[in-house]
Amino acid sequence: MTAKHTAGTAAAQYSPGADPGGKRVQRPAAEVRYAAELAQLAADDQGERPPGWALSLRAARRFILGDEQAGISRKFVGDPSLIDRALVSLATSRGLMLVGEPGTAKSLLSELLAAAVSGDSTLTVQGGAATTEDQIKYSWNYALLVADGPSTKSLVPAPLYRGMTEGRVVRFEEITRCPLEVQDCLLSPLSDRVMAVPELTGEDALVFAREGFNIIATANTRDRGVNEMSAALKRRFNFETVFAISDFATELALVEQEATHLLQGSGVTVPPRRDVLEVLVTAFRELRGGKTERGDAMERLSSVMSTAEAVSVAHAVGLRGWFLRGDAGSASDIVECLAGTAAKDNNDDLAKLRTYLEQHAQRRKGDQWQELYDARHRLPG
Ligand SMILES: Nc1ncnc2c1ncn2[C@@H]1O[C@H](COP(=O)(O)OP(=O)(O)OP(=O)(O)O)[C@@H](O)[C@H]1O
Ligand SMILES: [Mg+2]
Repeated sequence: MTAKHTAGTAAAQYSPGADPGGKRVQRPAAEVRYAAELAQLAADDQGERPPGWALSLRAARRFILGDEQAGISRKFVGDPSLIDRALVSLATSRGLMLVGEPGTAKSLLSELLAAAVSGDSTLTVQGGAATTEDQIKYSWNYALLVADGPSTKSLVPAPLYRGMTEGRVVRFEEITRCPLEVQDCLLSPLSDRVMAVPELTGEDALVFAREGFNIIATANTRDRGVNEMSAALKRRFNFETVFAISDFATELALVEQEATHLLQGSGVTVPPRRDVLEVLVTAFRELRGGKTERGDAMERLSSVMSTAEAVSVAHAVGLRGWFLRGDAGSASDIVECLAGTAAKDNNDDLAKLRTYLEQHAQRRKGDQWQELYDARHRLPG
């Protein structure tokens, strides 16, 4: 990543001039949030870099997994070998496909990988039923097109065109939600590293990818599955599964760190309470796994009870406490937030939640479990 590039992106996202109200960007891109860390890693980087990369694999790994001694924060919690495999995939001629349950940080990981490898995580296509090839490859400025005809001037590059010409990583979020024929426009960029622009002639009619270009796609296992991808496209990706965090203490620490950070950004000056977060993370893990800590079987919710969801409930609990009462939030707030965040409008899940609070919360020791139990009538319905 060049200093100029970082400065340009940072200026665009932070500049008060861009917004007369002086309001801060809610969530700047990873390369802006961690600009200082990326610059430090690049300056200290002794490792060999694959062609077109902003960092060596070892420095990229430290960026993602953290390095306490060097003051690099841990951003993704998970198996270090997953990160190694993901980085190696990106250095090969195959794309990287991150699959897994919703809320397991696939998007976050793809953002961090793109920021580490290319210094830019913003070349992103958000896949959906209405995604078109134009949004992925390129489109046209119609005024210029009519005035001058098709040329590189009237062409409006989309993430794939830019990633190929600039030699950067392109992120394709939720790729399996796109129609199959649209997904397949990635075939020749991935296999031959070339994209045709049939409207242009001469050397402009073919875009050859530069070093550093690759694609990171994500897909979650609850939406349309990767099985619906064409076999041809699947073959051009290395698949990596991102799993939910298996260890209670690690998940608790992550939820605490993320919720504290989100609450600060929301103007809340008290950190979340540890005992409240313990109740929250325990409840999430039990409702997700269908088993209590003691090993008793219970009904699992059909809604997604991911770590990402736990972070968002912890955030909402802190906001409720602070803005409604001026405290740090308590377990009774968890009940209020669970209905909207976790159970959504699913009546079966609400009934299961009620059973959980009645049968399991009551037996637990501790003030916050008691609060959770006492607040059970606040579930709607
Ligand atoms: N292993 C993890 N490491 C770091 N953060 C995590 C982890 N698991 C969950 N999170 C939390 O979840 C948030 C990221 O969720 P993200 O949107 O990336 O998930 P996702 O897998 O892309 O979900 P979806 O399939 O719904 O798109 C992070 O901001 C973080 O708070
Ligand atoms: Mg995602």
